[in-house]
Order: sequence, then C-alpha cells, then structure tokens
Amino acid sequence: MFFHLILLVISVMTFLASSHEPTCDQNCADKPQFTPSRLVVQFGKPTSALCSVCQPGCNVTTFGIESPVGSLAKNGTEITWRVKKMTEWINSLSCYYTNGTTDEQCCSDLPITVYKPPENVSFSVHPDVPMSEGQQYTLQCEVRDVAPVKNLRVTFYRGQTALGELKSSKIKKDEPKPVSEVFTLNITSTKEDDGVQFWCEAKLELGAEVPQPPPVVESEKLTAAVHYKPQLEASVPPDPIIITEGNPLTLNCSSVGNPSPSYTWRTSGITSPSSGIVFIIKSITHADEGSYTCSVSNEKGSITVEFNVTVQDLALPSTTLPTTTSTPSTTMITTTSTPSTTMITTTSTPSTTMITTTSTPSTTMITTTSTPSTTMITTTSTPPTTMITTTSTPTTTKTTTTTTTTTTTTTPNRDQNCADKPRFTPSRLVVQFGKPTSALCSVCQPGCNVSLFDIESPIGALTKNGTEVTWTVNEMTEWINSLSCYYTNDTTGVQCCSDLNITVYKPPANVSFSVHPDVPMSEGQQYTLQCEVRDVAPVENLRVTFYRGQTALVELKTEKDEPKPVSEVFTWNITSTKEDDGVQFWCEAKLELGAEGPQTPPVVESEKLTAAVLYKPQREASVPPDPIILTKGNPLTLNCSSVGNPPPSYAWTFPSRTTSPSSGSVFFINSITHEDEGSYTCYVSNEKGSITVEFDVKVKADNLALIIGLVVAAVLLAVIVGVAVFISYHKYYKEGAYNLWDRIRLHTTHSSIPTAE
Ligand SMILES: *[C@@H]1O[C@H](CO)[C@@H](O)[C@H](O)[C@H]1NC(C)=O
Ligand SMILES: *[C@@H]1O[C@H](CO)[C@@H](O)[C@H](O)[C@H]1NC(C)=O
Ligand SMILES: *[C@@H]1O[C@H](CO)[C@@H](O)[C@H](O)[C@H]1NC(C)=O
Ligand SMILES: *[C@@H]1O[C@H](CO)[C@@H](O)[C@H](O)[C@H]1NC(C)=O
Repeated sequence: MFFHLILLVISVMTFLASSHEPTCDQNCADKPQFTPSRLVVQFGKPTSALCSVCQPGCNVTTFGIESPVGSLAKNGTEITWRVKKMTEWINSLSCYYTNGTTDEQCCSDLPITVYKPPENVSFSVHPDVPMSEGQQYTLQCEVRDVAPVKNLRVTFYRGQTALGELKSSKIKKDEPKPVSEVFTLNITSTKEDDGVQFWCEAKLELGAEVPQPPPVVESEKLTAAVHYKPQLEASVPPDPIIITEGNPLTLNCSSVGNPSPSYTWRTSGITSPSSGIVFIIKSITHADEGSYTCSVSNEKGSITVEFNVTVQDLALPSTTLPTTTSTPSTTMITTTSTPSTTMITTTSTPSTTMITTTSTPSTTMITTTSTPSTTMITTTSTPPTTMITTTSTPTTTKTTTTTTTTTTTTTPNRDQNCADKPRFTPSRLVVQFGKPTSALCSVCQPGCNVSLFDIESPIGALTKNGTEVTWTVNEMTEWINSLSCYYTNDTTGVQCCSDLNITVYKPPANVSFSVHPDVPMSEGQQYTLQCEVRDVAPVENLRVTFYRGQTALVELKTEKDEPKPVSEVFTWNITSTKEDDGVQFWCEAKLELGAEGPQTPPVVESEKLTAAVLYKPQREASVPPDPIILTKGNPLTLNCSSVGNPPPSYAWTFPSRTTSPSSGSVFFINSITHEDEGSYTCYVSNEKGSITVEFDVKVKADNLALIIGLVVAAVLLAVIVGVAVFISYHKYYKEGAYNLWDRIRLHTTHSSIPTAE
C-alpha cells in the first residue's frame, strides 16, 4: 500500500515537471531554425514547416515540436511538422531540444498567421438613400467573420476613387479568431454624387509570405441618388434680351435637379399656362415686351430665372427705344404708358400700322410642352399695361393706349434691371407669422447720386442710414410675399428698384387623420386615408406624408398657391390586408421652406389611428392526418383553433352518440371507444364569414385485448385439433386399441360397454 502511494507521488511530480517544460532559453547560441521563418496559412488548408533542431554534430538528448495540431516526422535532428487541414487559430509553434552536455533547454518559436478571408462584406449608407445635397451621411462597411482582424484593411470607394482606408479599431486587435467589425466613414453629399456607385472593399494584408494578390472581398455597389434643388443648365441670357419685332423669341429655362424639376412661367405678373422648359413666341410684337419669369422647382427647392425682353421697332434704326422717347427713365415700352404712347405717335403713323399688322401673328405662343393656344392673348389682356390692350383688339388705334395713364401714377415706372440695383440682405426672407423680422436694403453703390429712396411695405418701420434702409417688423401680421426697395437717380431721373421675396409661414393649427368610409376595415377593401391640415401657410410649401407604422406610404403636395392660411384635405387610397390589423396609421404635415427657413422645418403629426381589420376565420392549428387513427382507450384531441377578427366562435357536431355540446376551439375525449368513431365537424364563424373543418376519427382495437383474444383463439384451436385427432385415431385403431380403450372404458359409464363390444 505504501509502495503504491510513493508511485503515485512520483508520477504526479513527473507530470508537473513535464507540463512546465518550456522553461527554455529562446536566446541560446545554437537555436533551432525554422524553414520558412514565418508561416501564413489559410484556415482549413494544409501547411508544413521544418525545424533544424541544432547544428550538425550537436549533442542533444530530447527534442521536439509543441503544437496542438499536426503530425511530426523526425529525421536525424530535423523535424517536419505537417498539417493536412489547419483547424486551430494558433499564432506560433515551438521547437525545442535539451543539450546532452549542459542539460540546458533551448527553443525557438515560428510565428504563424492563420487567416480567413471575410465571409461577407456589406455596404450601406446611413441614415438613408436618397441623400439630400450638402448633408452628412455615414458610409458603413460591415465585414463579417474575418481573421486576423489586425491585418484587415477596409477601403471606401466612390466610383473608382478610394475615399479612405481604415484599419480595425478593436481593442482586442490581437484576436487570432474570426471576428466581425463595422467600419464607417462620413461624407457630405454633393449633387455630383447623384448616380455614382459607392462601395467598400475588405483586404487582408498578410505580408510577403502569402501568395499575391492578398485576399480581397468587395461589397455590392450602391448607386447613390442625391436630391438637390434645381440649377439653371441653359446658358444665362443677355439682360435685357433685345429683339426686333417679328422675330421669334426663345426663352430656355432648362435646369437640372433631382427629382426632375417642374417649370412655371410668369409674364407681366400673370402665371402663364405653360409648364415647359422652353418658352417660344413665333413672332414677337411690342405687346410681348416685358419680364418673363420662369420658376423651376422640385421638392428640394426652387430657382427663379428672369428674362427681360425689349422689342425693337422694325422701322426704327439701330438706336434703342429709350433714347428716342421723351422720358429717358423708361427702358421698357410695355411698362411705360404715357411716355411710350407719345413716343409712338411721334415716331410716325407707319409704325403704328405696323404694330397692328404684326400683332395678329404674335398672339400664338408656342411652348414645348403644351399645345399652342391662344390662351396667352386672353391672359395678357387683363393687366393694366397699355400695349396689351392693343393686342387683344388689334384693329384699335394707338389712342386707346392712353386710357391707362392711371397705372403710371399709382405704380411708379421703375426698372428692376438697372445696373446698380438695390440689394437686399438677406436675399430671401422666411418669417413665421406673428414673429419679428428685418431686412436691410443697400439702395445703391457707395457714392451714388440719389436723394429719393425708400422701401414700400404695408407693415414695419424704416430706419435710414446713408443709402441703407433697414426694415424692421416687431410682429409679422401681413401675408405679403415681397417688399420693394427703390430709388431715383438724381442725375438721370431713372427709377430703379428690386424686390425681396418673402415667405410668411404658419405651421398647421391642426392635423387630423381619418379613414373612410370607416374603421374597422374589411380585408381586401379599398379605404381612403384622409389627412386634413388646418390653417397652414403657404400651402404650396406643405408636404403631407401618410404613414403605416413607421413606413412612409406617400408624400403629397397641393397644386394650390395662396399666401394666406388655408385648410387642405389630402387623401390616399389603400387596400386593406389582414396584416394591417393592429397597425397604426397617421399623417404628418411639414412646411418645406428652403435653406432660408428654420433649420428643422415645422412638422405637425396627426394622432395615430390603430386600424382594426375584420377578416373571416382562418385555420391556425396544424392540419391533422386524415383519417385520425386512434387505439381504443386513448385520448382524442381535436384542435380547431382559428384566427379571425372579430374572434370567431366555434360549433361542433359529433358522430352518433352526442357528447356534451362543445363551443370551444379544442374538443377533447379522455378515453376513446368504438362509439366515438366517425366524423367530427367544427364550424368556425365570425361576422366576416365561416369555415368548416372536418375530422374523420377511426378507432383501432386495444392491443392487449387483441393479444388476449389471440391467445384464447389459439387455445381453443389447440383443443379442437386435439379432439379431432383423438376421434380419428379411435376410428382407425378400433380393433387393436384394446388397452387404451379399456382404460377409458374403466372410467366411463357401463352403458358404453355393450356398444364397444
Ligand atoms: C459621423 O457621423 C455620425 C452621425 O452624424 C456621428 O455620430 C459620428 O461621430 C461621425 N463620425 C466621424 C468620424 O466624424
Ligand atoms: C435649352 O438648353 C439646354 C441646355 O443647355 C439644351 O440642351 C436644349 O437643347 C435647349 N433647348 C432649346 C430648345 O434650345
Ligand atoms: C380613392 O377612393 C375613392 C372612393 O373609393 C375614389 O372616389 C377616388 O377616386 C379614389 N382616389 C384615387 C386616387 O384612386
Ligand atoms: C391548438 O392550436 C393552436 C394553434 O396551433 C395552439 O396555439 C394551441 O395550443 C392548440 N391547443 C391545444 C389544446 O393543443
């Protein structure tokens, strides 16, 4: 017994000693040498290395390689380590020996890199595409299941241009096992990014020991859509455009923008019915003279392009009209009334007749998008400009033009296009109704010669300082859309002015959401979602978005254009599905006021309406086998559980022997008998409809009863067979079977004796 204990102690000690073995010297003179000196191997692939333990002729007792994987082959003092399939995430291998003379241990390590290219590289943009111009977006590259992460380099690309290369920022960068990591890069979107592909690439840089090129995995490419406000693409026209009458006029307002912008034209304060990119007048007349404004807009904003058209008289020499007129302050005949009439009368009668002749062709206005129509004539007849009245009635003489002299006195004849125009700071004003605001008008360049200048506004106070006018409003209570700053040049007498565009806004007083015709909905029917936005201005800047849960269904805007607060109802049709049951529907009204507006545009959300969708019952429980075969005495469970809204009710019919009337979704019999066999029907219904589920139940005999029956049958059979054999035996040996017969006879009645003899 004592001897055994000693053995145990010794074995434990040797175990401890061997487990602490690598107390070896990594710096001895004759170190083991590995070939190659560094190993890079893909996970799952074969590899090998050779360790030359010591110089030829050295004296070693023990030597080896320590590794959790692979096999060793020794040849002299050389060891070959081989792995068929690298399945361990090790990062080194140790080769050691014990010197026979000094008994010292010496070892060296082979650095190993076990790598695994990424399983998956996915790219995304946050918060979302499409992007908006000038906003910050985060590009995200998720690299899944790559090893070792410290060798990973992730490059973000814009088209073919590398935006930046990133390395892992993981704290545990030395992790040899596969990890997943997300890399991000922030960019500010520009409109040039529209349509450009963004993507990322994950590369393992494993050094010179790995076959080149290094493993690379690319993400899918994401084509960016960038929404940006319109920009004029067509060349900027001269200002003013001077054109000789009878010639064609083409105004090109072609702009780029995403989404594609829409175009609206205005002329002399009237919105023309044209919505085309290009505005064409086949043959121009004096009546067409004036200012043409093209508004190009999309959901991101709008620009306004102004074309000032001056029509040169055909009969006149190259001298410009203003110089020939008596009042030099006018540059445009259309806006002048009295002076221009005098001018025309002084020029000559032929010129008047010429105008009347050319006026008829000029009435056709051709736009690229809309069919040429005479609508322009009717619209141009309304403004109080003198020349226009002549176009509507071409035969009238010039004398009729003098009738509107009143317009000249009420609206001073001013030039919006003089060289030294008043300048507003800011260049566009967005102000909430009831809030204070201000703007500064620098009337003209320093040193200009003006004495008469002002701002025209129905509201606000003015402060003058040199040729600067400050307009201040403590409380904006007018729904104006512009402000005019003007001056009269003391030398030339020319009046010059410019307008400041003003948007007075008011967030909706109330946004209410409803569903028509009514909730609860019925599955598969069409319903109209309705969003009523009350008391909002300006309605043209309003955007209404319908939501289903957190998903935007559609964004709508109105065609209306009214500066004062109005109420507007927006609708959107949906077809209800049973998945809509319990989902919240709502709408949101937002005022998009452009870059000059508040940083976060005013948003008002409606209350949320939880939709109830009524639908007919649907089977929820799994379909049972048909027929259901059960052994007698076992329990029977019939599950008819169904979904439906409103929750359905259940009714059952049973075969023959009617059990208790059940109205539950599950029917249960503790112990089934033959009497329970037959067809069970479950009828599930709600107000939307009903379904019928049939269960066909068959009952097998009990196994134990069957076995007992079989045993009884077998015994009976044996008895019958035995008796039959006995009888036939008796008949065959009737005479020779005396002994047996006698013995039986001894125990039978005497009456049988005579028959036997
Ligand atoms: C990138 O943008 C996100 C969101 O705007 C921000 O949280 C993050 O700090 C930014 N990262 C860098 C490196 O600027
Ligand atoms: C309008 O300008 C655009 C852009 O410069 C040009 O592509 C287009 O052909 C022009 N249209 C007309 C009718 O001149
Ligand atoms: C929406 O549904 C209503 C009622 O069914 C119908 O009058 C209307 O035209 C539909 N609107 C659209 C845009 O389909
Ligand atoms: C019946 O089926 C439903 C739906 O599969 C299940 O949730 C329920 O637990 C079942 N009832 C019984 C008693 O098996």
